[in-house]
Amino acid sequence: MSALPQRLGVVGAGTMGSGIAQLGCLAGMATVLYDPVAEALERGAASLRAGLEKGAERGRWSAADAEAAAARLETTGALEDLAGCELVIEAAPERAELKRELFARVSEICPDAVLATNTSSIPVTSLASAAARPELVVGMHFFNPAPLMRLVEVIAAEQTGERALEVATATGEAMGKRVIRATDGPGFLVNRCGRPFYGEALRCVTERIATPAQVDRICRLGGGFRMGPFELMDLVGIDVGFEVAKSFMELSFGEPRWRPSPLQARMVAAGRLGRKTGRGWYEYGDGPYRPEDPEPPAPGGGEGRALAVGGDGPVAELLRARGEAAGYAVTRGGAEGEVRLDGRPVGGFVLVPPEPRLVELLGPRDEERERLFSSLGFVCEWVEDAPGGVLGRIVCQLVNEACFAVGEGVGSPEDVDAGMELGLNHPRGPMTWGRILGFDRVLATLDAIWQARREERYRPAPLLLKLAREAA
Ligand SMILES: NC(=O)c1ccc[n+]([C@@H]2O[C@H](COP(=O)([O-])OP(=O)(O)OC[C@H]3O[C@@H](n4cnc5c(N)ncnc54)[C@H](O)[C@@H]3O)[C@@H](O)[C@H]2O)c1
Repeated sequence: MSALPQRLGVVGAGTMGSGIAQLGCLAGMATVLYDPVAEALERGAASLRAGLEKGAERGRWSAADAEAAAARLETTGALEDLAGCELVIEAAPERAELKRELFARVSEICPDAVLATNTSSIPVTSLASAAARPELVVGMHFFNPAPLMRLVEVIAAEQTGERALEVATATGEAMGKRVIRATDGPGFLVNRCGRPFYGEALRCVTERIATPAQVDRICRLGGGFRMGPFELMDLVGIDVGFEVAKSFMELSFGEPRWRPSPLQARMVAAGRLGRKTGRGWYEYGDGPYRPEDPEPPAPGGGEGRALAVGGDGPVAELLRARGEAAGYAVTRGGAEGEVRLDGRPVGGFVLVPPEPRLVELLGPRDEERERLFSSLGFVCEWVEDAPGGVLGRIVCQLVNEACFAVGEGVGSPEDVDAGMELGLNHPRGPMTWGRILGFDRVLATLDAIWQARREERYRPAPLLLKLAREAA
């Protein structure tokens, strides 16, 4: 029997359900879209058809393909119409009891079907136990907007059997997605590995190392992220993020890396939930909520002055190349990370390779350091003096979390990288980033943070220790 279903059921016609049904129709499956709320069903089907038309206009598929796909859609307000489906993907509201009830009922209506859930945070294992045949239950985690995001995370619950995994994988691939495998646990693979982007950003603000707008600018210009953590929190909803953070805490029995931030709680209490309430970390009025990012200056103005850069890591290489381009007389000398201008040591800075357009300068302010780094072609951002600054701390914790996840068998290193790139739009995956920076340097930064904070949160993953030993 082919693993690819001929008849697909989708439960819930909201944001995710209608997108998933669109993918099913396009992949050639007869697709039954169910929603108990008549207007929601109508809205979902309309948005699906609009999506098909828009794709045809943009040349992503032909008008004939869009028409054929639309003809494969059946909508219903009766769950019984899912009979005969070989795969049912559930995208109902994120409430465990509701989903458990649905799984119990659907497993009676189509006893042989594989039942997949699109939940982002409810353990798949707890939903599987509500189905008549738990071995047929699996997680299929799509990302928003489902038709455009190129990733599906397939999650094996404790009870999931081989057939469920095969059907979910074949379906995800037929829908044109990169399918990654994850085990069940807080945030599965993608959201778990993405946690430090928010968690460490919140800590940097709590510790007054930088403001939310600064953290965002540093992540965009220094790290190449499309959006910073705070503007993303505003987009998703600070209340939604806070609930996710609390669920991580609960499911992990208090893992310190995943402790929610009192800052989030305060924003929620104040009703500042982000874009949807007109105010979160930013204010959303008529104009733009933040200024355009500055362009880095062109390197120049070195005038033959002596610039000595120590070490042979990627930061040192980058600085020497920039120094040459800017017209300094560049030499190699001093300890790793040490920079001297005309023989005088230059104060603290953080640059995160491979393509920083911004440098964090660690306070207190001094004009000469700012002039130097501007002349090297960087936008300068002054932050409080702290190991790793903002971006070093965020990126090192992303690498560390990925190492914990891989070491615990949550997913493979390749899948972790694909997950972060395709599911969360990170500029590169954490394992690749770790290799670029050097796992030994990542460990050194984490150790410095640990020394300054003495928090278990900054303990290195066993796999990071191993990779650091190998890299040294
Ligand atoms: N929105 C996202 O970014 C995103 C991303 C990944 C996963 N998810 C998950 O996908 C699921 C759906 O999220 P969404 O954003 O599409 O929500 P949504 O609110 O847009 O859609 C939910 C739909 O379910 C319908 N519904 C209500 N009661 C139902 C029932 N008893 N049975 C079936 N359907 C019912 C509603 O009418 C609505 O149309 C959730 O589990 C969510 O955690 C969401």
